[in-house]
Amino acid sequence: MQKELLSKPYLLSAEDLSVEDVNLIFDQARYFEYHYSLGANFTDLIGYTVALAFFEPSTRTRISFEIAVQRLGGKPILFSTATSSLTKGESLIDTLHTIEAMDVQIFVVRHSASGVPVLLQRNTSKMVINAGDGKHEHPTQALLDAYTIQKHFGYIKDLKICIVGDILHSRVARSNIILLKKFGAKVAFCGPGTLIPRHYSHWNLTTLKNIDEAIEWSDVIMLLRLQNERMDSGLVPSLAEFSNLYGLTFERISRKPELVVLHPGPVNYGIELDYEVPAYPNVLIQTQVSHGVFVRMALLSLLAKTYESRRR
Ligand code: CP
Repeated sequence: MQKELLSKPYLLSAEDLSVEDVNLIFDQARYFEYHYSLGANFTDLIGYTVALAFFEPSTRTRISFEIAVQRLGGKPILFSTATSSLTKGESLIDTLHTIEAMDVQIFVVRHSASGVPVLLQRNTSKMVINAGDGKHEHPTQALLDAYTIQKHFGYIKDLKICIVGDILHSRVARSNIILLKKFGAKVAFCGPGTLIPRHYSHWNLTTLKNIDEAIEWSDVIMLLRLQNERMDSGLVPSLAEFSNLYGLTFERISRKPELVVLHPGPVNYGIELDYEVPAYPNVLIQTQVSHGVFVRMALLSLLAKTYESRRR
């Protein structure tokens, strides 16, 4: 029998997702993508209120969740830290319980501190989705990245995928490694030694010296920006040197135009990516953003079904 529900009624880490869960989300995302293009209306979240609790800035993730909730007939409410009672000393858990008392069923949470979504899920019977926590994880980004790769190639297994740049501070890298390994991709790192985490050694990943080696080895390159807001000073000698060794330039991609290039955004043009490179057809940065809405619609719809089935 076809699986119709997710293993868990929340998403805190890519570890929460089995391969069957991801396939179910992708099937549902394809369904939404196709039927949305035909002008269909969806009702999956009618009666649901979704709190978009972004304690850290976001453009792509917050707006795509908001659009996803609206397209499914749910009500998104935006929570702003600056104008909330957190500024008057209310605790995070009290804030959660206050919003919960207003009949909110789903919390989409971004926070600069790793572990906040886990803490909130432990203190609520409602559903929490991790929309990026500190250096820890960003599971819906990994889902939309994998969806983009699978749509492009038709499969993920055995593809050579190199993550380039600031891996140490990247929640996107961690969630992607977990998810891509589950699908049998060959994953490599490429970045300055100071930005490659040692605790990733148990994953036994290939390490590539510079962007030229990465281009030669890879089917897909996933570029990451330098996360200055999470970085202690002195980890990169200079931006020019970083760009020279790890930046994707027009000249470099011209050698392998079939290479698929992803970037979760925001992009620091002129550092990890030249301004002209997005003109290449296999640079899928905008496609990733579009897919983000359908993947998040799929996740929200399936979580709501999973949650309802456990209440019966
Ligand atoms: N990829 C990503 O998380 O982008 P935002 O910070 O704009 O949400």
